[in-house]
Amino acid sequence: MSIACSTVTVRAPGKINLYLGVGGLRIDGYHTLATVFQSVNLYEEVVATVNPVVGAISVSFSGPQHQESLPIDDSNLVIRAAKLLARTAAIESGIVLRVTKNIPIAGGMAGGSADAAATLLACDTIWQTRFGLGKLMELAAELGADVPFCLHGGTAIGVGRGDQLSPVLTIGIFHWVLAFADFGLSTSDVFEEYDKKDEWDGELAGGFRMEPSIPDDLLAALRAGSPQQLAPALYNNLHESACRLAPQLRRTLQIGDDAGALAGIISGSGPTVAFLCADTEAALSVRIALSAAQIRTESVCSSVGGARIVARG
Ligand code: C5P
Repeated sequence: MSIACSTVTVRAPGKINLYLGVGGLRIDGYHTLATVFQSVNLYEEVVATVNPVVGAISVSFSGPQHQESLPIDDSNLVIRAAKLLARTAAIESGIVLRVTKNIPIAGGMAGGSADAAATLLACDTIWQTRFGLGKLMELAAELGADVPFCLHGGTAIGVGRGDQLSPVLTIGIFHWVLAFADFGLSTSDVFEEYDKKDEWDGELAGGFRMEPSIPDDLLAALRAGSPQQLAPALYNNLHESACRLAPQLRRTLQIGDDAGALAGIISGSGPTVAFLCADTEAALSVRIALSAAQIRTESVCSSVGGARIVARG
């Protein structure tokens, strides 16, 4: 096979969930979801370079969100993504993967899934598999529930495990302030906490057990491009589970609310909190209030496209 380029750089965005309805536990250990994903302009970057050593696939990490605890062995999603693609395409050449982490680890923004999506696209480009997006989406779903959306980007409804996607019509730009936690939450721990829901003294009993669905008012708000309409439609079924595991999130939510955010929502399984703001000025006020409380923040916009090649050489 001819190799067209020896280095490829791919960026893949993080996501927030504008709506996350959780249904029943499936036999594969996943929960049925009805979710609306939206990509934000906070990107992971993966640089893939051909390694002449046959079968040698390696990864290294750097960047503002990197933590030394991140494994670099076969348990890492980046290695798993590259090996899955190599196996599927019967590729034997090696690859060196360098990841810049800008999305918090275990933050509920699919940073690891974005790394996997970027890796699939970067390796696919270098190895010239000619698989096309459909096949890459299939491989993405094998790697994790959020990986297909990180490849796809934009705004999409996710059903099944969250990996069966359909695009959602949306116009305009939404302004968000992300409040980062100085700790992570394991997605499976948050879902496990959700499964104890019936034991919570009836506090938030109800919610979804069977088949959640996406409310029309949320889709209408996205079609209208109206943050004021979108704010009351934001919903996360895992909110209470994440707050029970990390009660300090309630304070973060309160600070953003007091500072004039239209709404605050825990992103996915948390602990990142996303505050929807009317405009950039309102976002600045929210950032100032959170910063004064020693909470790290980032201003982002949505939605943006999915994984993209940004350089090749
Ligand atoms: O697919 P991913 O590896 O990102 O999922 C991490 C964990 O989150 C799963 O092992 C499962 O415990 C939980 N999960 C779930 N239902 C989903 C998605 C994730 O229970 N739809």
